[in-house]
Amino acid sequence: MTPSPNPTSSEERINKFLARAGVSSRRGAEELISAGRVRVNGNLVTELGTKVVPDHDVVEVDGVAVRVCADRRYVVLNKPAGYVSTLKDPQGRPTVAELMPETGHRLFNVGRLDRDTTGVLLLTDDGELAHRLMHPRYHVSKEYLATVAGRPSEATLALVRHGVELDDGLTRPAEVTAERLGDTTSVVRLVIREGRKRQVRRMLAAVGHRVLALHRVRFGPIELGDLPLGETRALSDAETAALIASAGLEGRED
Ligand code: URA
Repeated sequence: MTPSPNPTSSEERINKFLARAGVSSRRGAEELISAGRVRVNGNLVTELGTKVVPDHDVVEVDGVAVRVCADRRYVVLNKPAGYVSTLKDPQGRPTVAELMPETGHRLFNVGRLDRDTTGVLLLTDDGELAHRLMHPRYHVSKEYLATVAGRPSEATLALVRHGVELDDGLTRPAEVTAERLGDTTSVVRLVIREGRKRQVRRMLAAVGHRVLALHRVRFGPIELGDLPLGETRALSDAETAALIASAGLEGRED
């Protein structure tokens, strides 16, 4: 099937197009096609290798037209405590949507921080990048400072470093160092490459240290700089390029 009557050099595979639009991963797009949910210019797509011309062809998933915005936004928020990492909260609690800048673009958060966690939260409308950054396969590192109850011993930190057994399985090895050791509270720095729910809190609780405060200082190559709590800033071109490279998308064409 040739969906476009006049294919040009800007054509691209439909699974890549759907991934760039944030509809799904490239693999997930193939599943949508196999399930008969994708149409191009009104015609059902049957071949996984179908190509489309983004500015010309009308691609629909479940009857809804899909568009890719090449002019993408990349923003970092220094998330304060008390905000949930969703755009809408059924319980009416404050959400990160209230802290998003007016860009005229519909941004969404890349992954989640717990309500009480502070620090780096990426906001973007780049669906493909967001998918990758959240996928464990790309091992994007995240760095945290955890204030814990008590004074963890070096043996305890070594346990966390090597991996602790949680109810959803053994954690991958992590970089773990004592930042400040005190008698009642201490600060531990951790770098992990997974993103399970409440992972840092559970890892430290599993070795007997309750997390009292948690701050994400870095997501992949992105740090806060001097960004105040509750504020956002656009990533620089260099930061954006580094972030895209960290997810293995550096050769991506727009
Ligand atoms: N680990 C946690 O426990 N909470 C977060 O918000 C992020 C990582």
